[in-house]
Amino acid sequence: MELPVEKNEIYEMTIDALGSNGEGIGRIDGFAVFVEGALPGEVIRALIVNVKKSYGYGKLVEIVSKSPYRVEPCCPVAKTCGGCQLQHFSYEGQLAYKAKKVKDDLERIGGLKNIEDLPIFGMENPWRYRNKAQFPVGSGREGSTEIGFYAKRSHRIVDTQVCFLQNPVNDEIIAIVREFMEEYKISSYDEGKHKGLVRHILTRVGRNSGQIMVCVVINGKKLPYGEVLVERLRKINGVVSVVLNINKDQTNVILGKKVITLWGKSTIEDALGGIIFEISPLSFYQVNPVQTEVLYNKAVEMAGLKGDETVLDLYCGIGTISLFFAKKVKKVFGVEIVPEAIIDARKNAERNGIENASFEVGAAEEVIPRVFDEQGITANVIVVDPPRKGCEQVLLDTIATIAPEKLVYVSCNSATLARDVAILIERGFQVKDVQVVDQFPMTGHVESIILMTYCGSDGKE
Ligand SMILES: C[S@@+](CC[C@H](N)C(=O)[O-])C[C@H]1O[C@@H](n2cnc3c(N)ncnc32)[C@H](O)[C@@H]1O
Repeated sequence: MELPVEKNEIYEMTIDALGSNGEGIGRIDGFAVFVEGALPGEVIRALIVNVKKSYGYGKLVEIVSKSPYRVEPCCPVAKTCGGCQLQHFSYEGQLAYKAKKVKDDLERIGGLKNIEDLPIFGMENPWRYRNKAQFPVGSGREGSTEIGFYAKRSHRIVDTQVCFLQNPVNDEIIAIVREFMEEYKISSYDEGKHKGLVRHILTRVGRNSGQIMVCVVINGKKLPYGEVLVERLRKINGVVSVVLNINKDQTNVILGKKVITLWGKSTIEDALGGIIFEISPLSFYQVNPVQTEVLYNKAVEMAGLKGDETVLDLYCGIGTISLFFAKKVKKVFGVEIVPEAIIDARKNAERNGIENASFEVGAAEEVIPRVFDEQGITANVIVVDPPRKGCEQVLLDTIATIAPEKLVYVSCNSATLARDVAILIERGFQVKDVQVVDQFPMTGHVESIILMTYCGSDGKE
């Protein structure tokens, strides 16, 4: 079949969307072309550099008609670094785009009709918001240590001294690790050869506690002169934990399973909504604490709780949503696949004197159908907050069989959210409310919450 574009030719197109990596998407006779740096609403000319069966990639050659939302990025490496993708898009433009994206996905994929424009909660200050950084480590041409972020669509490291999305303390941590590695000739990991020691530096900063964890991910058993690095890192105000993570696999997955505490605690603490959480390096914890409180409070509000509910929190991580709900309901049961996160969740409940929350390790799509078959579990409210791939169909089927009055779906991927919403509507649910929350300024990612109610197969509530 003849494709509407040819490699090495230049085409004019209107950009009508952004891809998941923030690239503009234009169409030539319906054929999607991804163009980095182009913004929705712009008319551009792009050189086609790669053509696949159903889509292609173009290089931005000229902006024929510029978006009113186009701005100059403040970061000197914004054009090359893949850490964030939308610094050339004003924050106002990003918010408007994200709200529209969720609406479009719900209509196009979810089959909902004529949704009104969706509300979005943005940030007052959309910079320096991240509490977690994962810096890849590599070697420069002259053997220097490079620590930064991967370049766009590649694993080439863009050496970074400052990142405007991260807590400023990271700039200090990275400078110390860089100097330590060069002084003690500690090798950086080479992905291609699967050789060298230090792979990543992961940091976590508790926004409300001020506690900081530094985790050095190594392709080996031991970090030579680790005690020197510890001595230097300890001088940073707030550092309470320095850990090693062992990852000897040839993989893109950043963390291995084994964690060794070099100094201090094996976890850090943070507080959200007056609840104290303990967070281990392997556990998921939302990266934007300011917006996480906004998100969780909205999820609780949408659930319209009376106080006597039984709540299932599926994909519960370290029990954050569970404990937010536990204060307002009869009991909560959380399910999560990462064992370390469930250890944290149980400790967190105990630590905060919360006795009506229990947790189980396992895949939600296995635990819930099994518990339903064995114990006939019931729930008034079910909360799901799955990873980007969304929920397994078997879980959605079981949720429909449990038939909770309310389902609160928290999602970081509006396409899989819309797909699951379509399935849930077929199974008897109706969408009652949608709220978009910007958890990830300067990136193309969008978080949203949907409230659904169960109406039964006859559609009556
Ligand atoms: C988006 S996070 C949400 C975590 C938590 N609700 C929060 O707000 O911090 C998704 C969580 O699902 C977990 N997960 C992934 N696949 C899972 C599965 N099949 N069953 C249960 N949990 C899973 C991940 O480990 C992660 O903790």
